Amino acid sequence: MADGTDQKSSNQMWGGRFASGPSAIMEEINASIGFDKKLYAQDIRGSMAHAAMLASKGIISPEDKDKITDGLNTILSEIESGRFEFSRKLEDIHMNIEARLATLIGPAAGRLHTARSRNDQVALDFRLWVKEELQKTEGMLTTLIAAFLDRAEENADTVMPGFTHLQTAQPVTFGHHCMAYVEMFGRDRARVRHAIEHMDESPIGAAALAGTGYPIDRHMTAKALGFREPTRNSIDTVSDRDFALEFLSIASICATHLSRLAEEIVIWSTPQFGFIRLSDAFSTGSSIMPQKKNPDAAELVRAKTGRINGSLIALLTVMKGLPLAYSKDMQEDKEQVFDAAESVELAIAAMTGMIRDLEVRKDRMRAAAGSGYSTATDLADWLVREAGLPFRDAHHVTGNAVALAEKKGCDLADLSLEELQAIHPGITKGVFDVLSVEASVASRTSFGGTAPSEVKKQIAWWRGRN
Ligand code: ARG
Repeated sequence: MADGTDQKSSNQMWGGRFASGPSAIMEEINASIGFDKKLYAQDIRGSMAHAAMLASKGIISPEDKDKITDGLNTILSEIESGRFEFSRKLEDIHMNIEARLATLIGPAAGRLHTARSRNDQVALDFRLWVKEELQKTEGMLTTLIAAFLDRAEENADTVMPGFTHLQTAQPVTFGHHCMAYVEMFGRDRARVRHAIEHMDESPIGAAALAGTGYPIDRHMTAKALGFREPTRNSIDTVSDRDFALEFLSIASICATHLSRLAEEIVIWSTPQFGFIRLSDAFSTGSSIMPQKKNPDAAELVRAKTGRINGSLIALLTVMKGLPLAYSKDMQEDKEQVFDAAESVELAIAAMTGMIRDLEVRKDRMRAAAGSGYSTATDLADWLVREAGLPFRDAHHVTGNAVALAEKKGCDLADLSLEELQAIHPGITKGVFDVLSVEASVASRTSFGGTAPSEVKKQIAWWRGRN
């Protein structure tokens, strides 16, 4: 270092890079083949539909269409068997496939690009990819919801403490808590379905940005590619990526739900809480501390949220200043979406596994639910109902009872009738019926409440919809 060797080598490195000429740097910044090769199947499918439409409208001959289709089929099997040579010089997946087609079938290949541009081509490929990814996500969420419904059913009357501010609030059932996540993932799935409907329009035929003078039939390609209809504005079609942003925002919201659940799993599996035991399949040991069982999968699900949110912000930022229509900036859309898709899929799969395998420690949950004066609200409600007190006064009386229990180091249910009557003479022995956590949860029968009877109704409602 002192002799300046490092300095020299880094100079050499940059010097070497410049020596390779601006075209090499241009190639590196311009090429997307490294990641957009993922779109090969969509690209080929789109080209086949386009060629068939061109032939049916008499824009290319049936012979050329057949050659193109055969050639594309060959390319598909070359790529799928790993025999295709991707070239960075050819920039992206579209040019790689077209160049190979020319080698395979000759001049007919040049007719495929009639009445289209890479701008509508990439919009089509990417939209198809995102739509398929959303369909996959929809299925995965259904499986996750099913796992939760099973756990909820088994634990419809498993009592646990409910928390606010992570302080014991009121007893709830674990089944009810599970169903809260069913609601969240159910809404995520509804967002997915809505997005699929939203993006169900075919971009192909928008051409560079202005449409085309060839007598194309965009309804035909839309139908062949499984879209409801073609997009209605060619400028919008090649310039917006809101379908990708929609995917990323849905993924971010879903990841946020997964992350909160992951956080609960981390907390619940500590020896201090001990509410659950994770299966060995979803935890790891420590290389130095033999007693440890770490919730690594949950922690990584929690962390994936950071990546996914980052992708959403990255693409929003790429798009925010772009004038209509296409700009090359938009090439940066794919890696964000691919990475987020991989992360959210993995996170949902890991969470589904954890929920399926979860061992619920009912005794620990029950014991925790009974401490922390979780039935204080029930005592206040009893005073309103049975002793005719206004709720504010009942709240005050209950506060005194909690203070006494705290002083004695016992639970509310452990106070004697005499002690309670000294606090308020209207209290009778009937109060003990509501001081137990079981009585507390059973009483909460309002629609959507934690009573086992209510939770079972909600499970049945979801079973009919999952
Ligand atoms: N690789 C490009 C992308 O992903 C394809 C579209 C290129 N269009 C163009 N006019 N340069 O956005």
